[in-house]
Amino acid sequence: MSLELNALINGELMNNGDWLEIISPIDNKPYGRVPALKEKEIKQAFQTARQAQKPWAKLTLFERISYLRKWADLLLVHKTKLAKTMAYEVGKSLKDGQVEVERSIEYIDYTIEEAKRVFPETLTGDGWNVQNKLGIFSRVPKGVVLAISPFNYPVNLSIAKIVPSLVVGNSVVFKPATNGSLTGLYMAKLAHEVGFPKGVFNVVTGRGRDIGDLLVLNPEIDVISFTGSVAVGNHIRKLGHGKDLVLELGGKDPALVLKDADLAKAVKEIIGGAYSYSGQRCTAIKRVLVDETIADELVARLKTEVSKLEMGSPLENKAIIPVIDIKAAEFVQELIDDALAKKATLVIGNQRKDNLLSATLIDHVTADMRLAWEEPFGPVLPIIRCKNVEEMIMLANKSNFKLQACIFTNDINAAFKIAGELETGTVNINGRTQRGPDSFPFLGIHDSGQGVQGICETINSVTRFKGLVINY
Ligand code: NAP
Ligand code: G3H
Repeated sequence: MSLELNALINGELMNNGDWLEIISPIDNKPYGRVPALKEKEIKQAFQTARQAQKPWAKLTLFERISYLRKWADLLLVHKTKLAKTMAYEVGKSLKDGQVEVERSIEYIDYTIEEAKRVFPETLTGDGWNVQNKLGIFSRVPKGVVLAISPFNYPVNLSIAKIVPSLVVGNSVVFKPATNGSLTGLYMAKLAHEVGFPKGVFNVVTGRGRDIGDLLVLNPEIDVISFTGSVAVGNHIRKLGHGKDLVLELGGKDPALVLKDADLAKAVKEIIGGAYSYSGQRCTAIKRVLVDETIADELVARLKTEVSKLEMGSPLENKAIIPVIDIKAAEFVQELIDDALAKKATLVIGNQRKDNLLSATLIDHVTADMRLAWEEPFGPVLPIIRCKNVEEMIMLANKSNFKLQACIFTNDINAAFKIAGELETGTVNINGRTQRGPDSFPFLGIHDSGQGVQGICETINSVTRFKGLVINY
């Protein structure tokens, strides 16, 4: 057991004597432990968050910023250790972990700058019977934000919820994913060092299935910002009814490859988009819809590149690393087995040792196969051959996931037309699907989510208008 960290409630690092083991995906053995909090501690976290919120909001923006800047500085100083913690608890390569911390520091800097530009809107009344009114509409914090993050970006997807909330004067109760809790509590330890006012920022840990409902149902909550699976997201949609919700859920992002595409570019983007972090990204390319006249060439080129992806430990910065746990690997295997049993063609891969799956490419996937529709969260990419662009659009839109899509073509007019037809949050032309840059609005619709993230949009989601009307 190498790491044991405490929760953060009311400015104190604490535990309740019950512990939750964190199993490393590297060797499926315990790497550390975090407090398994119960109802009493959860309630306390929300009560203190509620008490702390108004005094925090009354500080000047620059006072709040100074705490966040100190935190950012410490996160940067601890970049290597945070990356090591992520490597052990979520299997992210050391290199990618460091990049994630750097990206998050940039996120904090950008958020701070945007917070300085949250100006009130001033409107003159000039309509029905009103020419003697001046309205000043300011954005004020909503109150207490519950932030729940997934395992795959333990630093970035936490910062993306916590920092916009705090900077504008909300208080936060943050629950990291179980795999991701050591990183979350490491960040909490650094926040404790900064000395945020007591209760402003709380970090609670425990299994989602044990404490999730206790968290979501707490009456002190004003906003729930959740990123994770559709199943849990939909559960929160029901329970959290009446609270403001931002839900970022799963994806099955398609890459549409038209017959005039620059194949070298498409291949590079598809490989990075599909296989980085072993496909454990909501925005990973999770299906390729290709014009049948160029499919053989595309598949041959993809195969060459997949064969170069090295598999192994995140500590050695390998491209293909173990997925989060054995259950996740078994699910990916099920999807592969189902496709192969229904006569899809294995191009390369389909080797597995426990939760380490090789990069797998499967051709001739058809609509009757689960792999055409379900989100694997692993290093497997299905190729679906299409007769024409209409079929690509039809298949792209038929998925219940609607996060992002990408189109590869040299015909920019066609790209614009197809983009207009695709029912999805964002369409990328000649580039992979991805969330960043973090200043862009990021959203999924239908099963992929509700509400919008991104630096400005998250600030909007944790604030509301408050109007002041001057009658003259
Ligand atoms: P998950 O299993 O849904 O877990 C997400 C978070 O919810 C974790 O903190 C989890 O805690 C917590 N949780 C579990 N049950 C809960 C409950 N009943 N009430 C409240 N919280 C609960 O998802 P994951 O496996 O971490 O992440 C993978 C999924 O997230 C994929 O579907 C992926 O596409 C999606 N994702 C989406 C985005 C996006 O922005 N659209 C980004 C990243 C990931 P425990 O870990 O303790 O169970
Ligand atoms: O896993 C979901 C993340 O929001 C994806 O972020 O596109 O930067 O990898 P990314």
